[in-house]
Amino acid sequence: MRIIETIKELRQWVADTRAAGSTIGLVPTMGFLHEGHMKLVSTAKDENDAIVMSIFVNPAQFGPDEDFDRYPRNMARDTQLAKDAGVDVIFAPSVEEMYPRQSAITISAGRLAEQLCGKSRPGHFDGVLKVVTKLFHLVQPDKAYFGQKDAQQLAIIESLADDFNFPLQIRRVGTVREEDGLAKSSRNVYLTEQERKEAPHLKKALELGKQAALAKQDPVAVMTDYLRDHTSGKIDYIQFLSYPDLTEKVEGDAILALAVQFEKARLIDNLLFTVKGN
Ligand code: PAJ
Repeated sequence: MRIIETIKELRQWVADTRAAGSTIGLVPTMGFLHEGHMKLVSTAKDENDAIVMSIFVNPAQFGPDEDFDRYPRNMARDTQLAKDAGVDVIFAPSVEEMYPRQSAITISAGRLAEQLCGKSRPGHFDGVLKVVTKLFHLVQPDKAYFGQKDAQQLAIIESLADDFNFPLQIRRVGTVREEDGLAKSSRNVYLTEQERKEAPHLKKALELGKQAALAKQDPVAVMTDYLRDHTSGKIDYIQFLSYPDLTEKVEGDAILALAVQFEKARLIDNLLFTVKGN
């Protein structure tokens, strides 16, 4: 496995790999790898000849009061995990390498960022689009892998690829969970012991909400009561929307999503399911 830190070296590897006729799968991450990330890798391994994993804590997607500086990092452990999983290249550029100067041009997630996390994290998805666009151009993957855990991000990236004719396929990978239902996340390490005990109730609330939605009842009310009774976290949002277009008119494919702010960790989770017409 190679660790590449410069764009120049990455471009050379991409040119050589393409010239050899190999397909490339891209798994973008911010590192501090867990089994969710590794599921993206194993899915990518099944579908491509060569795998690039990017590890880059992207400052452009963190707000001024967010956790960029204290976002967990462990490159030594990540390198070992990626190697064991059969990743061919880790692309781990510095911030200066990715963003050598202030760019005058911005990419906006627009309407898709008006709901869910986009509401409470202004500019976040624009920053995601900035780095993902660069990664798509640099790695030129045949397929790129994203987790359903971050369903709004996935919807926005699907829209980017589709609207702007990126010559690649976006692949959706289901959410990997702990045994008790908590969705794996790099940010779970911020939870206190007590909060970690409460955290599986997020998934339980989603299940209750799903039952309500399928029974044509309001899922938000049920979930709000349940979360207030079972967790100490502050509810940031609970929303039931169509998916992936994220409108309030829910018919067919839907997302039920929540975000809960604990003392040091903001956790998100969601369920995607289909609502039958009346
Ligand atoms: P990061 O949070 O490191 O996540 C990288 C990828 O892993 C994302 O596609 C995310 O949806 C997926 N993922 C995280 N937890 C998962 C889980 N429990 N099950 C399945 N997949 C999971 O998302 C980002 O980084 C960044 O925004 C990025 C896309 C890399 C752009 O900077």
